[in-house]
Amino acid sequence: AEVLNHGKNIVLIGFMGVGKTTIGQLVAEKLDWEFIDTDQEIERRHHMSIPAIFEQKGEAYFRKVERELIVDVCTKERQKVLSLGGGAYLQEEVRNACLSHGIVVFLDLSWENWKKRLPSIVHDRPLLKNKTLEEIKQLFEQRKQAYSQYHYRVVTDGLDPETVATRMMELIR
Ligand code: S3P
Repeated sequence: AEVLNHGKNIVLIGFMGVGKTTIGQLVAEKLDWEFIDTDQEIERRHHMSIPAIFEQKGEAYFRKVERELIVDVCTKERQKVLSLGGGAYLQEEVRNACLSHGIVVFLDLSWENWKKRLPSIVHDRPLLKNKTLEEIKQLFEQRKQAYSQYHYRVVTDGLDPETVATRMMELIR
């Protein structure tokens, strides 16, 4: 494994379906650090899928659980690679914890390329269901503002996950 002396948690942010989980996993393998995907961790703890949590417990409940998990990991742990759900970073407390205790990497993808992924991700993303493409585009643009505070940005258009992970490794050392 490569050695990262600072030991600060690496936090991946970005819109739904840009590859935060896949790339986070690859970076964690390269560092030989533990990988935590906030959605997967919440699903594991609740024995419920994200769509089921949204449906049965509501979005506000999900946001609270998500916030507490991220603040907890950021403030108490080191040497973790953390992939956030796409909406987590809209919470100020989450942004503050990630920016002050970790290295935040924004995975950026153009709307044109993102659009092509929509059919494969819509089924387990409650916030994309029953929305028109125009409404989704608006959400995509709004979210871009929220993701503007980061340490590094990687434009992922046309890059495979391995290339993105390698690029990230160069940035975070
Ligand atoms: C959400 C993104 C999802 C998941 C939930 C809400 C959002 O995570 O947390 O469906 O608000 O953008 P991904 O970014 O992994 O799709």
